[in-house]
Amino acid sequence: MADLKTKYMGLELKNPLIMGSTNLSGSTEFVKKLEENGIAAIIYKTIFEEDVQLENLELHEEMESYTERHAQMITQFPEMDDFGPEERLNNMKKLKESVNIPVIASLNAVNKSSWIEYAKKIEATGVDALELNLYYEDIDFDKEADEIEKEQLEIVREVRKAIKIPISVKLSPFYSNCLNMIKKLEMTGVDGFVLFNKFLEPDISIKEEELQIKHNFSKSNESRHPLRYIGMCYGNIREDICASTGILSSTDVIKMILAGAPAVQLASFVYKNGFDAIGDMLKEIEDWMDKRGYRTIEEFKGELAMKNLKNPTIYKKVQYFDVMKKLSDLIEGYALK
Ligand SMILES: Cc1cc2nc3c(=O)[nH]c(=O)nc-3n(C[C@H](O)[C@H](O)[C@H](O)COP(=O)(O)O)c2cc1C
Repeated sequence: MADLKTKYMGLELKNPLIMGSTNLSGSTEFVKKLEENGIAAIIYKTIFEEDVQLENLELHEEMESYTERHAQMITQFPEMDDFGPEERLNNMKKLKESVNIPVIASLNAVNKSSWIEYAKKIEATGVDALELNLYYEDIDFDKEADEIEKEQLEIVREVRKAIKIPISVKLSPFYSNCLNMIKKLEMTGVDGFVLFNKFLEPDISIKEEELQIKHNFSKSNESRHPLRYIGMCYGNIREDICASTGILSSTDVIKMILAGAPAVQLASFVYKNGFDAIGDMLKEIEDWMDKRGYRTIEEFKGELAMKNLKNPTIYKKVQYFDVMKKLSDLIEGYALK
């Protein structure tokens, strides 16, 4: 029978499924349910330096829209908390003591001294690793991209010096050259990358004629962007890459492993399908491995990474033009008949 064990940043995981940082992973009650249903590790709800009340309010609205389909989950959902960072640290410590799976903290601070201060406090809680959520609010027309990247690199370098536990960096999908940023971050001594984060983005309601902010749950095809980068990075960087965004089925998980990820993060999947679906997902991965004769994750990890392909051009954007050319040849062929 297939063995789903894997390793991420030196952490032994019983399978590749990690609960991404969400409100569900900020509650001991829900983390216990995630553990019971087979999740291998969790990323604790991000500690944001600023107040988290607004974010909780948005989640509350989001959850209401799912009331019918997941009534049970919604009724169990605890009242929106307004924990500040210090309270989150206490809760994280208690959580780590009460579960048997690895707990990875997540941090997004505003200024450099806070990053270091909180990283140290987080390490003192006994968690297994730290994920740095490097989000920068790009609302400034005058700030140079290079300046932002330099600041981010400096933060990661300083945090790396300040703590000993493994560190991953959860990256924004928006860099002019993401691969170059990854290479530079490698030099800071981080242990892993999470590709990619997904942000709240505004939408316009034409009925109300107003701007609204909503977090829409992901769709499966959103996983293609991380998939491409994971495929390009595998074997070309030393660190482990954890896939995130758009992983909504066992098929999506298997694809990410084939591209080179030893583990994946789930968020929308659990919100949409509930905790029980984690067990089904694991069973489907196991069945696929059994059918293919794979006994371990290692046996097929990275099999379809750029490095392992005879013709890696499919990972390059230029392929788009080939597809367009084939299409236009086809249309021309029809026109001649
Ligand atoms: C309700 C909710 C809360 C989230 N909170 C955080 C957070 O605190 N920190 C973070 O890094 N990502 C947060 N995320 C983003 C997820 O961790 C994940 O990156 C994103 O949802 C994409 O993954 P998915 O396609 O599996 O949903 C949140 C997502 C949701 C749905």
